[in-house]
Amino acid sequence: MKTRVADLDFELLIPYEQLEKRIREIAKQIGEDFEGRSPIIAGILTGSFLFVADLVKNLDIPVEVTFTKLASYFGGTASTRKIRDDFDLTIDIKGRHLILVEDIVDTGNTLHYLVDKLRVREPATITVCTLLLKPNAIEVSIEELKYVGFEIDNQFVVGYGLDYREQGRSLMGIYQRVG
Ligand code: XMP
Ligand code: MG
Repeated sequence: MKTRVADLDFELLIPYEQLEKRIREIAKQIGEDFEGRSPIIAGILTGSFLFVADLVKNLDIPVEVTFTKLASYFGGTASTRKIRDDFDLTIDIKGRHLILVEDIVDTGNTLHYLVDKLRVREPATITVCTLLLKPNAIEVSIEELKYVGFEIDNQFVVGYGLDYREQGRSLMGIYQRVG
């Protein structure tokens, strides 16, 4: 299935049914790993908003949900490696189990920045969950990365929360750039 977002062409890479299935598996795993605890789920906006929603709907442990907002692409199709910190977590994370939820890990710079920033607030643990990972793009390895939905090629993707020039976030599936 093909679609156009702003001035670029995309084709379906991961249909929503596959995302749903994988998200249920991840939620089950998180539920087992954090059994008896009440972690804070911290979504990294904007791209993760649908993933966070579907993930928490499938969790059978009590969680708090909060968000932080970072930006690094600024309307293009490649990471600028400059991070703009738009807004911070509002929950005190000291002594808490923190699960950071990201849409996609590309170079790893965004998460590296965020984990470094949050570590000094002394959470009990920091764990990272990402829907997508581009393993061939990683420049900084993230040891906190434990849950990965899908590994994909270095191609630019949109849909299911991810955007190109703020468009395409509502596509129900992950679409990759063609051409
Ligand atoms: P880094 O390089 O810091 O990048 O790991 C992570 C952030 O960059 C955005 N990103 C993308 N956004 N399609 C997008 O719409 C992509 O293919 C893509 N790759 C990276 C994303 O916001 C992520 O948080
Ligand atoms: Mg993001």
